[in-house]
Amino acid sequence: MIKTLVHPCKALQFPVGKIQGPVGKIQGPKQLRSKEPKMELTLAQPDDWHLHLRDGDLLEAVVSHSASHFGRAIVMPNLNPPITTTAAAVAYRESILKLLPANSNFTPLMTLYLTDTTSPIEIKLARRSGAVFAVKLYPAGATTNSQDGVTDLFGRCLPVLEEMVEQNMPLLVHGEVTNPDVDIFDREKVFIETVLEPLVQRLPQLKVVMEHITTMDAVRFVESSKEGSVAATVTPQHLLLNRNALFQGGLQPHNYCLPVLKREIHRQAIVAAVTSGSNRFFLGTDSAPHERRRKECPCGCAGIFNAPVALSLYAKVFEEVGALDKLEAFTSFNGPDFYGLPRSTSKIKMVRTPWKVPESFSFSFGDIIPMFAGETLEWRPSSN
Ligand code: DOR
Ligand code: ZN
Repeated sequence: MIKTLVHPCKALQFPVGKIQGPVGKIQGPKQLRSKEPKMELTLAQPDDWHLHLRDGDLLEAVVSHSASHFGRAIVMPNLNPPITTTAAAVAYRESILKLLPANSNFTPLMTLYLTDTTSPIEIKLARRSGAVFAVKLYPAGATTNSQDGVTDLFGRCLPVLEEMVEQNMPLLVHGEVTNPDVDIFDREKVFIETVLEPLVQRLPQLKVVMEHITTMDAVRFVESSKEGSVAATVTPQHLLLNRNALFQGGLQPHNYCLPVLKREIHRQAIVAAVTSGSNRFFLGTDSAPHERRRKECPCGCAGIFNAPVALSLYAKVFEEVGALDKLEAFTSFNGPDFYGLPRSTSKIKMVRTPWKVPESFSFSFGDIIPMFAGETLEWRPSSN
C-alpha cells in the first residue's frame, strides 16, 4: 500500500512506503505464495562487530535488543567521557553484564578510544586484561562524542600503533576526514587516500577494520589490501538505503547516520561486495540509539537504532540478490576469523514470516525509533 506523507508545511505531498526504482529503499522481495512451505534458515549465532550500547538508562533500554540476537559484540567506546583506559573498559563491561537477562550468554568485547595521549603501556594493559579486543580511531570531530579523538595519527599516536602491531590488537577506524572544506559525501574517499593508504603502507602488519563502509572506494580499498590485515564492517542502512532516504517526503532524521548515506552506485557496490562471499566483509550494525527528541530537533544526532531489525534486514539484502547461501559467512564466520576468535557453536533460526517493526520503543526517559519503524519485514530471527 502506498502511504501518502504530508509534509508538516502542508505544501508538499510525497508518496512513501513502497518505492519504485533506485531511490531511498530497494524494492522488497516477491511474496511467496501461501501454499509454499515456510522458509527457515539456520545460522551459527551471529556476532555484531560494531555496536553502540551507551550507558545509564539508554544502555538498560537497548542492551537486550542486541543480546537476544547476537552472541558477541564489539562495544564502541564513544561515551561521555570516552572509554580511554583498560580500567574504564573493564568497569563498562561489568555494567553491561549486570543488565543482561539471567539466561543470556551475550559477551561484550570491549574497545579503547584512541586519543593523542594514549600510551603504549595502555595497549599492553588492554591486551593483558582479556576484556579489550580493539582500539577505536575517531578522527576528532568526526561524529558523536569524538571531540577527544585523534588529531595526530602519524605523529603522537605512532608509538601506540606500533605497540598494537606487537600485541596483534586491531585498529577500528571511523574513516572520514573532518576538514570542513571537504564535501561531506567525499569524506570517506579522502580519508582512504590521505590516511588509510599511508597507514597500511607504513604499518603493513597492523590489523585494520574500516568500520561502516559507505562507498565503492572503500570496497576497492578493502579488496585490494592484504587479506587478513584489512577488513570492513557493513551496516544494514548502508546496504538498504541511499542518500535519497534522507530527504524522501521531507527531512528524515531517523535515516541520518555517519558516515552519511551515499549515492545508489555506492550502495550497489557494497551489496555486491558483501554478497560475493568475500571474507573481508562482516556484520557490524553500528546500531546507535538516540532518544527521539535528540533526533527530531534543530540539530539532530547521527545514529540509527537498528538492533531489533538488523538480522532481518541483512537477510533481506542477501535474499534479494539470491545469495542467502552467503549470509552465514557474513553474519557468523568472517568476523571471528578476522579477530582470531572461535566461531560460535550455537545456532539461531531465521524464519520467513512477515512481521511489523514497532513504530517506537517507549521508556521512562522517552522513545527510541527503530530503523524501518512501522514497516513489514519478511525474515525474523526465531527464539526457538
Ligand atoms: O551515526 C553514527 N552514530 N555514527 C557514528 O559514527 C557514531 C554513532 C553514535 O555514537 O551515535
Ligand atoms: Zn559506530
